[in-house]
Order: sequence, then structure tokens, then C-alpha cells
Amino acid sequence: MKQHQSSQPIGIFDSGIGGLTVANAILDALPNESIIYFGDTAHLPYGDKSGDAIRYYCLKIVKFLLEKNCKMIVIACNSASSAAYQVLLDFFKEEALFVNVVDPLVQDVAKQNFKEVGVIATKATISTNIYKRKLEELQPNVVVDQLATPLLAPMIEEGFVANNISKAVLENYLSHPDLKNIDALLLACTHYPLIRSAIDDFYQHKIKVYDSTVVVAEEVKRLLLANQLLNTGTEPRHHFYVSDYTDSFEQTTQVFFGKSIHLEYEPIWQ
Ligand code: DGL
Repeated sequence: MKQHQSSQPIGIFDSGIGGLTVANAILDALPNESIIYFGDTAHLPYGDKSGDAIRYYCLKIVKFLLEKNCKMIVIACNSASSAAYQVLLDFFKEEALFVNVVDPLVQDVAKQNFKEVGVIATKATISTNIYKRKLEELQPNVVVDQLATPLLAPMIEEGFVANNISKAVLENYLSHPDLKNIDALLLACTHYPLIRSAIDDFYQHKIKVYDSTVVVAEEVKRLLLANQLLNTGTEPRHHFYVSDYTDSFEQTTQVFFGKSIHLEYEPIWQ
């Protein structure tokens, strides 16, 4: 792989604000790292796009992040990780380190030996069967119940995270008969940690709920250490780019990263 310096930034991308949950966990674990975040708000939601469309968006975004000199790319979106991880490796694996959000979560959950695991995600992620396939590979007896929950990411992106509408939508999905007997639920979309407390309230903490934020941050740390690219020195600098300006993106960015965040508009699609 191309030679990198530890001071180079980590590129992180998603369709919108979801990947900020991952970025936040990475900066909690690795406060010296600089990040360049790209939210492809012009194409949100990814969950209802075809695999080909998602792959096309991802190739262009990663090219942009590599031009910004990133040493590592974190695909902070399950829809993109499911549809595009392999093609991104095929094109760019010599250019930077790559982390997807599916494998660290599957590996963590498989260790717990649950009998029946529910997976909620976008239509794009569920249609690839990626969680079912990968969990069954590691734990052949597990029962995996998958449910597409396409209203959740756009709802969260609109800032509907704790009101009557978000509660009703969530209850409708989580009451689905397919999820009746699960011992654990995987939040297989990086937007869903933003409604984590409503999900915990629904289950009253009777089942385990998992998301990818902390395990992905741990994988980022492990890979950077293994490649001697962990940044221990320089003052971190973060950049947040969007392909279309949205209020909710700005609000969520400020909640996570403080008032002084400056959003940069990047007309990548023109
Ligand atoms: N946060 C993304 C995911 O993990 C995408 C949601 C969407 O844009 O539909 O799948």
C-alpha cells in the first residue's frame, strides 16, 4: 500500500448525518485524529437506491476523500458497506486502509451466541442479505430475522427522533411478528443510534441492542496501530463536507462536535 503519515486525516462518509454517530465514536476513542467527513445529502436516502447507484456514489466520494489525502476511509453507512465495500477495495485498496461498518458488528455479535437475532436496516442493506450471510458463517445455528425499516433514516435525517410520529413509526416496525422472539437487535444503519433511547424504551431493556459505533472505532484503532498510522501528535483538524446543504445536518453536527462547526458545500455532482 501507498506510504502514509500518521498525521493524515481519516475520511468518513455516509448519505447524511448517520455516519456522524461513527465519526463521534472514532473521535472519542482517538481524539488526536483529524477527520474529513462527507455527507452525500444530495442523494439521501441511500436505502432506496439500487446497488449500482450506491456503488457509483461511493466511488466518486472515495476519490474525493483520497484527493484530500486520507490515510484511511471509513464507510460509515451500512447501505454503502453492503453494496460497495468490495468494489472500493478493487479500485482503491492500494491507496488507503478501508473499514466497513458491517464486519466489526457481525464479529462482535457472533461472539455472544444469541439464538435469534433481529436486524433492522434500510431496504438496500436488507436486500443484500449481508448480515444474515455473515452471521450464519460465524454461527451456523443462529436464526436471523431481517426487517427493512425504510422510513427510519429519512425520519431521523428530518430531526424526528423523539416525538409522537417517530414513536409511532418505530413501534409499528418493532412490533412486526418477525421480531417477536429475538434475543438481540442489531441497528444495522448508522442513523439508528440517534433513536437508540426510543428503541431501548420500546424493549424496556429486555433484549440486547447493538450498533456499530464503538466496535467500528475499535477496528479503526486496531488497523491504524497495526499499520503504525495512529496519530499521537498534531493538533486535530476536522472538515465536514456536504453535497447539498440541509439544516438537520448542521444541527446534528453541532450537537456532536460543538458550535463552531463550519459546513463546507462540495459540489461533487456538478
Ligand atoms: N446511514 C445509512 C446506513 O447505514 C444510510 C441511510 C440511508 O441513507 O438510507 O444504511
